[in-house]
Amino acid sequence: MEATRWKKLIDELDHNHRLSADGYRSLLEQRFTVQDADLKEEMDRYLFEHARNRQQQNFGRKIYVRGLIEFTNYCKNNCYYCGIRRDNRRVERYRLTEEQILECCAEGYRLGYRTFVLQGGEDSYFTDDRICDIIKAVKLRYPDCALTLSIGEHSRDSYRRWFAAGADRYLLRHETADEQHYRYLHPDTLSLQNRKACLWALKEIGYQVGAGFMVGSPGQTMDHLVEDLLFLSELQPHMIGIGPFITHQDTPFAKEKNGSVEQTLFLLGILRLMFPSGLLPATTALGTLAPDGRERGILAGANVIMPNLSPTAVRKQYSLYDNKICTGEESAQCTQCIKGRLRSIGYEMTVDRGDHPDIQ
Ligand code: SAM
Ligand code: FES
Repeated sequence: MEATRWKKLIDELDHNHRLSADGYRSLLEQRFTVQDADLKEEMDRYLFEHARNRQQQNFGRKIYVRGLIEFTNYCKNNCYYCGIRRDNRRVERYRLTEEQILECCAEGYRLGYRTFVLQGGEDSYFTDDRICDIIKAVKLRYPDCALTLSIGEHSRDSYRRWFAAGADRYLLRHETADEQHYRYLHPDTLSLQNRKACLWALKEIGYQVGAGFMVGSPGQTMDHLVEDLLFLSELQPHMIGIGPFITHQDTPFAKEKNGSVEQTLFLLGILRLMFPSGLLPATTALGTLAPDGRERGILAGANVIMPNLSPTAVRKQYSLYDNKICTGEESAQCTQCIKGRLRSIGYEMTVDRGDHPDIQ
């Protein structure tokens, strides 16, 4: 590619918030295959400067925080990449009670969190009614807080009931927008078609929706990433969560390679230009593969961080991948740690609940 072509593509993306499939492919190909370290650095610098401009135009230097409560690690699914998949007999399973969940919220509220994310495996113990009860209890105590669910694929009716009970947002990564790649990552009981249908249903019902994918998941090609970007452009989610794939020793993908921090950062920069006012988390997976991964994520355009509010006693059991950070004794100090990290790069945590700017 001639020297200025990639710059023109970044300029075009910044201007139009989209590229053609060929445009995305050229940009990714050049960045991911280039050997010249100086050129790599120049591409990153150019993209991240543009991405930070958009981020700061829309959000200043404020970073939204969402308190993550991992309330169950039981799951009926068997995704090949995931450490808490059903067939992993080595996981010690746990469920938090409603009371324990409310305690996590109380602690979070005290620390300044105004969004709680309830995440878990697909656990049939938590029936629609039980989830409704939890939502109502949290919203009754914390009417000024947003509540996000991230509990996988369910019927439109369940999603409707939970929305009516007070849930505001829903995170459901699409994982990969390519049919065959989806097959490669999941057993036959799961389908991309259903995953996408869930995302469209959630949007239609009125949730602020988060989609996303893993970077460097087994079998992923450049074309798959292009499909991911095109799908996101079509879906227009409010939030996009991406993080590197990380192996877990007790899964079928134990021997695969981890995803790359550099590629994740470059994709974050692209996503910021595609979605100037979107909510982009600097994920825990990014912080797991590089000690300063989340800070670099923010400097590449991310504007959300999701510290763990789960009780420290269970954090190790929600091990989606090996060496996950914030699971040890030090983890009670997550909020202080995050504040310090943000300050060190000239950003600050805000207590604003951080709805997408399009939401009134
Ligand atoms: N059950 C819900 C769902 O499927 O959406 C939420 C829980 S699931 C564990 C949350 C996310 O973790 C997944 O969407 C996936 O992208 C990510 N994840 C799982 N295993 C991972 C791995 N080995 N490396 C990186 N991310 C992983
Ligand atoms: Fe269900 Fe990972 S397989 S949460």
